Amino acid sequence: MTKKIAVLPGDGIGTEIVAEAVKVLDAIGEKHNVSFEYEYGLIGGAAIDEVGVPLPDKTLELCKNSDAVLLGAVGGPKWDDLPVHLRPEGAALLGLRKNLGLYANIRPAKIYPALVDGSTLKKNVIEGVDLVCIRELTGGLYFGERKREKTETGERAYDTMVYTTEEIERIARLGFETAMKRNKRLTSVDKHNVLESSRLWRDVVNEVAKDYPEVELEHMYVDNCAMQLVRWPKQFDVIVTENMFGDILTDQASMLSGSIGMLPSASVGGEVALYEPAHGSAPDIAGQQKANPLATILSVAMMLKYSFNLQSAAEEIEIAVEKVLNGEYRTADLMEEGKKEATTSQIGDLVVEQL
Ligand code: IPM
Ligand code: MG
Repeated sequence: MTKKIAVLPGDGIGTEIVAEAVKVLDAIGEKHNVSFEYEYGLIGGAAIDEVGVPLPDKTLELCKNSDAVLLGAVGGPKWDDLPVHLRPEGAALLGLRKNLGLYANIRPAKIYPALVDGSTLKKNVIEGVDLVCIRELTGGLYFGERKREKTETGERAYDTMVYTTEEIERIARLGFETAMKRNKRLTSVDKHNVLESSRLWRDVVNEVAKDYPEVELEHMYVDNCAMQLVRWPKQFDVIVTENMFGDILTDQASMLSGSIGMLPSASVGGEVALYEPAHGSAPDIAGQQKANPLATILSVAMMLKYSFNLQSAAEEIEIAVEKVLNGEYRTADLMEEGKKEATTSQIGDLVVEQL
């Protein structure tokens, strides 16, 4: 079996973390008789510098003609002051998600036993945490109408949160399907007490729930959810929520897995899925081999599972990561007393060794 992967390293630490994920893919491919063919594409600031736009047509074509997409990260201070249509985050990342029809972002947060003591949260709170957040990715506040205009006294600006029945239904369904494969508990997060779009959200989720009588459904306000995630995160199995709420809650949930450098993600819903760490390009540590590559490595495990149906290969990567964390080496974000600091590429090598 041969699989073609579009590789988009992007900016900042993107190049370094993607290199480690590719190493791991090569190793697992050899073990499972799959050969991965990589074609590299430009995205984000790197693309602006080379060809003047953050999401070149060529990159989009490459993604559409591949079996899966692996992305590092985009953005950095160098491109922060560009006009909106050139900003790496909006134009490149959001453009790519929208163009590929990736309406669902799956972000699992689970704590590895070896990281329990290193967390900023108490051991009894995070021990055993294992949840998945399903974030709507192509609608809501990120894609609604927006404007900034001059007024007599200054300026006014607005963004709008828009959802249709269809958009809510398909993401809700994925939430229920995911819950069915896990512990059959789904928390739908909204702001039903204030927002009209949340009232539609809740109605549609309740409709879809009729098709999944085995799933225990709970509705939760987003502010309460933010609080519950740090108070008692073990109550959650699957969370489904709007784009912006999901963006915020998943950064918060990442700390339940020890570090934002541990949170992988899969964006699905179109013909080709996209795999990327949930974190950004970390320009402050770029090029220094300090970044944690594990979120990206765990993202390729998700690729094997969701795009190629290679369950056991995916699990082998997860086990290899766990073994590395049980050992003595860590990247800076996970440092604890008694551990030795390792570079990005050393961690990648250690994962490969464990395979
Ligand atoms: C994420 C990121 C992106 C988002 C940014 C870089 C546009 O924060 O994937 O969570 O907000 O979706
Ligand atoms: Mg985010």
